[in-house]
Amino acid sequence: MSDGQDPVGIDRLFGGLDRLAPGTTDDIAWILQETCLPNGARIADAGCGTGCDIRTFHAMRPDLYIVGYELNERFAHEAAAAFSDQPTIEIYHKDMSELGGEFNLIYSAGAVYFLGIEQALNLWCGNLAPGGMIVFSELCWLGPERPPEAADFWAAFPAMTDIEGAGAHIRNAGFRQVASRVLPPEAWRTYYDPLAARVAQLRAEIVPQTSALLNEIDAEIALWRRHGDTYGYALHIVAPA
Ligand SMILES: C[S@@+](CC[C@H](N)C(=O)[O-])C[C@H]1O[C@@H](n2cnc3c(N)ncnc32)[C@H](O)[C@@H]1O
Repeated sequence: MSDGQDPVGIDRLFGGLDRLAPGTTDDIAWILQETCLPNGARIADAGCGTGCDIRTFHAMRPDLYIVGYELNERFAHEAAAAFSDQPTIEIYHKDMSELGGEFNLIYSAGAVYFLGIEQALNLWCGNLAPGGMIVFSELCWLGPERPPEAADFWAAFPAMTDIEGAGAHIRNAGFRQVASRVLPPEAWRTYYDPLAARVAQLRAEIVPQTSALLNEIDAEIALWRRHGDTYGYALHIVAPA
């Protein structure tokens, strides 16, 4: 996500959107099934955006106590407003590298790359309750094929690795993989369809060529349509080794 002096900016591009990264409600069902959280367990959503996954966790397990951390002020306020009537959900406009308290599950969708896998796991290890787990989704190559166009685009994200590479980071941080899976194409469509509509709306509102951000998002979506079978988001459930 780039910003700078762009006439659109991150807030205007993503504000009011439900989902700020690929994902589905089915992923949350899978996480709940794999982690067997006890009644009343505490979950942190690190980099919760506008709170789409918090909504799903709460709908599927109303007994859970959920704390969202979000650095972007607008997204944090949107999430806080959405859950203002829910006593078991708290949203903090706060850096996720400083989670407060202990959690049975620390969840982070599409946000770990801001810290790096090893740094995130090292930081959050101290916030895990006994038996606790961390779940994160991370962009990765799905196999050896690296189409030059995709490799050029994702060169802006030098930490991008493959599933084995993510496994090495997990082990280096002193964790073991409990379960992993690759998000389905539907997870991308759920994210990209409303985003593409927002881009089209904003293009009608500004002088289109003045926004590098809109061009970047258009290029990202077009790239996924051409080469989305070679990269994807992997969802990893990990626990201290
Ligand atoms: C790709 S978005 C995903 C948001 C949300 N998890 C979702 O799936 O819709 C990543 C989010 O992480 C947030 N973020 C980045 N660095 C952060 C930090 N240090 N602390 C808290 N949030 C952060 C960004 O503002 C952004 O909302």
